[in-house]
Amino acid sequence: MSIDQETQITLAVKHLKSGHCVAIPTETVYGLAGRIDSDEALKAIFQHKMRPSFDPLIVHISNLGQIPALVKDWPLSADSLARRFWPGALTLVVKKSDAVSPIISSGLDTVGLRLPSHPVARALIERTGVPLAAPSANRFGRTSPTTADHVRVEFPEAIKSGAIQVLDGGPCHLGVESTVCRVTEDEVSILRPGGVTEEEIRAHFKSSDVPALQNVRVTRDVGHHSSPGHTEHHYETQKPLLVVWHLGVLPSPWKTLGDSIEIEGQHFVRTKFREITLSENPTLAARELYSKLREADLDPTSDALVIQRVIDSEAPEDGLWAAIDDRLKRAARRTVGIELLASPKWPSRSR
Ligand code: TXA
Ligand code: MG
Repeated sequence: MSIDQETQITLAVKHLKSGHCVAIPTETVYGLAGRIDSDEALKAIFQHKMRPSFDPLIVHISNLGQIPALVKDWPLSADSLARRFWPGALTLVVKKSDAVSPIISSGLDTVGLRLPSHPVARALIERTGVPLAAPSANRFGRTSPTTADHVRVEFPEAIKSGAIQVLDGGPCHLGVESTVCRVTEDEVSILRPGGVTEEEIRAHFKSSDVPALQNVRVTRDVGHHSSPGHTEHHYETQKPLLVVWHLGVLPSPWKTLGDSIEIEGQHFVRTKFREITLSENPTLAARELYSKLREADLDPTSDALVIQRVIDSEAPEDGLWAAIDDRLKRAARRTVGIELLASPKWPSRSR
């Protein structure tokens, strides 16, 4: 860590102590953090983000010793996931203790816990001595930030007035958010796909030498009822985004799409679309996704954005692509599938 970062952390500890918020770098995306014991800071997080109170916050910890005070139950399955994937991009939702404010849990009886791997985030939590509640540092429903500059664009007034301090830890390495799992003794249910993949979670239990863990069921429950803030329309750009999924490389998708495309009742001509190209390597595609969306949004020569997502097969979305496709589906204001069978997995929709 640089001397400058050490100084910023010292200032951030003070800022948090006086009930303010700090934007923190994590390996996934930047978070807007407040101390879990400060109602003032917790309320400010919701206000800055314009986030509805029904959407619970993730509690970030820096060591496993902080868990007992935060939870009512800590199933063996959760413990084994924590030891395998933490520090890292995995949030474990378990029954909460009374020490977790209802502001954090949005009145639910559970809490999401995560131990991030970014050294600046961990040092800040460690030196604060109290876990930090933090959602992604963007206005509600918008694209998540993966650089300190992205955060500055989200909250210019609050940063100017000193209400939010931005801790710059460089660009985020992963680029998509953590995988959120609800965990009980015998089931792990994925509420939001993310940086730790379903395959890695399955393989972890399968290779366990503890019989009870080998039998843990891994399921998907991706929808906004189970993860209240993960709404159908989320991660949205300012300009309308069209996502085209197609099987195999096509000479040009515009042949199918035509020269004028309707999105939410408005017509956009082909030449006014800014094309965003994703890497074929999912690690790079995830890392660059939000930066590319934000950059394209600022392009004054375009009215709309388009991403072509070439897929190899209609087999289950796997690995990191599950998280990327989930974000694309929610960010898009129109999706089109070409050469694909009608499937809820690859929805063609206009709304
Ligand atoms: O990678 C991440 O998870 C980032 C970094 C900053 O840690 N955080 C993040 O937080 O993405 P946020 O608030 O933008 O998304 C957290 C998601 C929301 O959809 C929320 O509804 C869900 O996790 N969540 C949090 N606590 C929950 C709980 N107790 N039960 C169900 N879902 C929960
Ligand atoms: Mg978010």
